[in-house]
Amino acid sequence: MKKSEVASYYDTLASIYDHATQEAGKWTPPQEAVQMLSGLIEAVHSILDVGVGTGQVSAPFLKMGCHVCGIDISSEMLAICRRKFPTMEVHEASILDGLRFLEDRSFDVVTAVGFLEFVTDIERAIQVLSDRVKHDGLLCFTFEERISDYPPQSQVQSRSGAGSVQTGHAQGLMHYRQTLDEVTEILELCGIQIEQNHRFQAYTKGGIVPVFYQIVLARRIKAPQY
Ligand SMILES: C[S@@+](CC[C@H](N)C(=O)[O-])C[C@H]1O[C@@H](n2cnc3c(N)ncnc32)[C@H](O)[C@@H]1O
Repeated sequence: MKKSEVASYYDTLASIYDHATQEAGKWTPPQEAVQMLSGLIEAVHSILDVGVGTGQVSAPFLKMGCHVCGIDISSEMLAICRRKFPTMEVHEASILDGLRFLEDRSFDVVTAVGFLEFVTDIERAIQVLSDRVKHDGLLCFTFEERISDYPPQSQVQSRSGAGSVQTGHAQGLMHYRQTLDEVTEILELCGIQIEQNHRFQAYTKGGIVPVFYQIVLARRIKAPQY
């Protein structure tokens, strides 16, 4: 089967990903997620990390002794993840294919950090993520916010770099943006309620133009309504 544009992009980037993102402020979503979840996760918890990449979000939870299941569309990102965390459970799959092989499993915490901006159908992706959250469990995710009065992020979708300085980060990939209200509406249908959220600077395009994401911590409070 032909690889998607995103999978091919991350396959190419995989060998330099950790090095390219390690400098302070270069790529902040993993630290934001870990900080938001700190104090809420215990060693007995099961975690599903979708868009796991090289395991930057999973790392501290693996260290605590949690069982972490990582999903990614890029075989090369997963290869690095496996090398770093040889005992971790990982699967190559796209969220948009529904994660049917996890149908009979649910998790205390589901994370999706730094990848929903590449997903063509965020409603479907959030449904698939929330279907895997246990009752009273947590969903922690980031998304690229659509901000009407901030030109670099005012469009629903654009190729990265369009309207701003070209960058080495995901250059040329299509990015999809939502408002917090749109995401809140999707979560409500999924039986998930936001407990915390905030806007933060995820990276800078070309080292100059700030790119803002929202991070959301939400809890499953009831069954989905779809
Ligand atoms: C920017 S990286 C983020 C990796 C990690 N979560 C982090 O924050 O460092 C985005 C990851 O999402 C993965 N990804 C993109 N689209 C995906 C999809 N539809 N299903 C699963 N993974 C996807 C990419 O392959 C890549 O590893």
